[in-house]
Parts: sequence; C-alpha cells; structure tokens
Amino acid sequence: MAHALVLHQVMNVVKPDIRCYDNEDVLVEAAAHLIAERITRLIEEGGECRLALAGGNTPRPVYQRLAQSDLATTVDWTHVHVFWGDERCVPPDDNASNYHMVYSVLLSRVPIIESNVHRIEVERGQGESARRYAEILGNEPLDIVLLGMGDDGHTASLFPDTPELATDERVIPTASPVPPVERVSISLAEINEAREVCVLVSGTDKAQRLAEVQQQIEVGKQTLPTARVQPHSGLLFWLTDAAAARQLSMPNH
Ligand code: 6PG
Repeated sequence: MAHALVLHQVMNVVKPDIRCYDNEDVLVEAAAHLIAERITRLIEEGGECRLALAGGNTPRPVYQRLAQSDLATTVDWTHVHVFWGDERCVPPDDNASNYHMVYSVLLSRVPIIESNVHRIEVERGQGESARRYAEILGNEPLDIVLLGMGDDGHTASLFPDTPELATDERVIPTASPVPPVERVSISLAEINEAREVCVLVSGTDKAQRLAEVQQQIEVGKQTLPTARVQPHSGLLFWLTDAAAARQLSMPNH
C-alpha cells in the first residue's frame, strides 16, 4: 500500500523539459526566441499574453535580445501584459529594482502599452503591496512565468527557509538572506497555476544546486523552492547552459 502511494506521488511529479545549450550566448538566443514564440502563440490562442518576468542577472541578456528589432517586431507587444515574479523593496528607480532592470533593458524599447505594465508597488510596504498585487493579478492565471534560480535553490523571492512556501495566498512578503532583505513574491501556488513556466539557469555556480533540484524531482521529494515549481499544466521548461548542467545525471538535450 505504502509502495503504491509512493508510486502515485512520483507519477504526479512534473518532469521538466530540460534544454541544455553549449554556452550562455546560445542559451540567451534560444531563450529569447522561445519566449517570443510562446508569447505569439498565446496571443493567437487567447488574444493576450500575461507574462511574469524574473529579476537577477541571468535573464537580463535575454530581455536585451528580446528588445532587438528583429525579434521585437515578431511580437505584438500591444497585447502583452507584463508582471513580475518578485520585487525587492527598493524605489522603482533603484538599480536593485527588478522593475527598473526590466524597464530599462526591455520595456522602454518595445511598443508596450504603459497601462499593461503591472509592477509590484513595493513603496506601499511589504504587506500592502503584496495584497494589492494579488488584486492586480486578479483571478486569471499567468500565461508564462519566467524564473531564475539562486545557488541556494531559491526562485522568485521564495527561499529555502521561507515559511509560507505552501500558502494558498497568491502574493507574499518574504525575507531574503542577502540584501535587499525585504521582498514581495508571487507564491508557489500562483506559479504552479501558470500555463507555462520557464526556469533559466546558467553558470558553474549553479551546477551543484541544479543537480540537487533535478534529483529531488526525480525521486518525487521536493523541498527546495525551485524543485517545487510544478505547474499543474505540466508545461515546465528549464533552459540551461552546459556549465550549469554539467552535474545533471540525465540531460535530455
Ligand atoms: C531576484 C530574483 C531571483 C533570481 C535568482 C537568480 O529578484 O533576485 O527574481 O529569484 O532569479 O536570484 O539570480 P541570478 O540570475 O542573478 O543568479
């Protein structure tokens, strides 16, 4: 009986479609094309695309590539709504702001409609901005959630010791072990409702943790936040470079 239960749990685990590229440049090119294609497909299917973006260093060159005209013109940006997976509690013009980073390298360079840009208004304070952002997200699931992974296995601003990893709330205040400490993050519940989730990971610094996350998924015992990214849709992509993937036991690409 116990054995059957374990099998059932493992069968329910979403195994990511891991796509490993030779180096970071190839990863950036592939990720930008994949995101542009998925946005276009989702607009064709539903009339708009609700896209949640990640902060951090890994996605920045992907956003820069998406802003280049050959790719930017393939996307109907007027039908894209942009959200953030998480925000650091700093002013929106601060260099540490995820809004600031995405705006400066991507949104200021594509014809997006200003009112379709939905930043997390952290200046309202952590609790109030989380509550307000849940309202802004509304009841519709996000279409695409783009995530990164920290070398401790965190994703968005959901850290291994975040107490609310299992919450039903859609947006939560969290604390980062490194500054800026105060964060506001969409929850695992919100991420896992999304139609498609894409995790971007690059560099040797992430290799060990990525292998651990993959191992947790393989055996169906996910504790690290990134391993708990398990969209109900089953559409989970991990895009990595060879450096990050070098300790993966079964890269399938
Ligand atoms: C943030 C994030 C965070 C990030 C990881 C990876 O605001 O910091 O959204 O989850 O994606 O920390 O960051 P790097 O890409 O810089 O390694």
